Amino acid sequence: MGVSIERILEKEIMSDKEQAACYAKADFSVSNQFFVDSLIKYSNLFIYVLDLGCGPADVCIRLAKAKRDIGILAVDASQPMLELAKDAMVNAKIKYKIKFKKEYLSDLKLIDDYDLIISKDLLHHLPDPMILWNKIKEFSRPGTIVYVMDLIRAESKEKAKQIVETVSGNESETLKQDFYNSLLAAFTLDEIKQQLTQANLDKKLTVEQVSERHFIVKGKL
Ligand SMILES: C[S@@+](CC[C@H](N)C(=O)[O-])C[C@H]1O[C@@H](n2cnc3c(N)ncnc32)[C@H](O)[C@@H]1O
Repeated sequence: MGVSIERILEKEIMSDKEQAACYAKADFSVSNQFFVDSLIKYSNLFIYVLDLGCGPADVCIRLAKAKRDIGILAVDASQPMLELAKDAMVNAKIKYKIKFKKEYLSDLKLIDDYDLIISKDLLHHLPDPMILWNKIKEFSRPGTIVYVMDLIRAESKEKAKQIVETVSGNESETLKQDFYNSLLAAFTLDEIKQQLTQANLDKKLTVEQVSERHFIVKGKL
């Protein structure tokens, strides 16, 4: 499957209130539950979890329900997203399991290291993808599990439109436009492999296409 178009950057932070609300309302249950189920099948030997680019925290909440003994630090730079995430956590009745931090990934400083670092659909927002891989190295220790899922760039604008209509045809126009932009801002599998090599993570992390539009990078550091 050859990719014929260049990456088109989209807005990095989802800081617009309406955009964040449309994202939180949209139904990503299939890909979010797939992420959680496949992660736990891969390994459930973790307690302290770091989620980079948590958005409205649907992934964190599903993970906290699936594995009750964990604590999650969820990071995002968007205030509207974090407000939606806190509401969602209260509604899900899992108080205290998730702590939130508003910070740009590039500015994030943490004193702890983590058993598991996850990130879903953040990478394609970053103008410089190496920030994610370098921060993963910074916040890990030997044995930390890494589980990153993101979109694969569509082969063409027509293909991106087709994917949006098939997957999110019933969602709001704002959500559909965001999804379209994301499919053009995402990376190819070859680009991901190059990023892992550049970060010196290619011996420990593998990349695998898991659906028509998603890949997972996983491994133990
Ligand atoms: C597409 S959402 C994904 C949210 C969530 N992980 C999910 O899968 O539902 C991407 C999130 O990453 C956040 N984000 C983008 N760039 C960021 C950065 N440099 N630092 C922190 N958060 C960032 C956005 O604000 C947005 O909430």
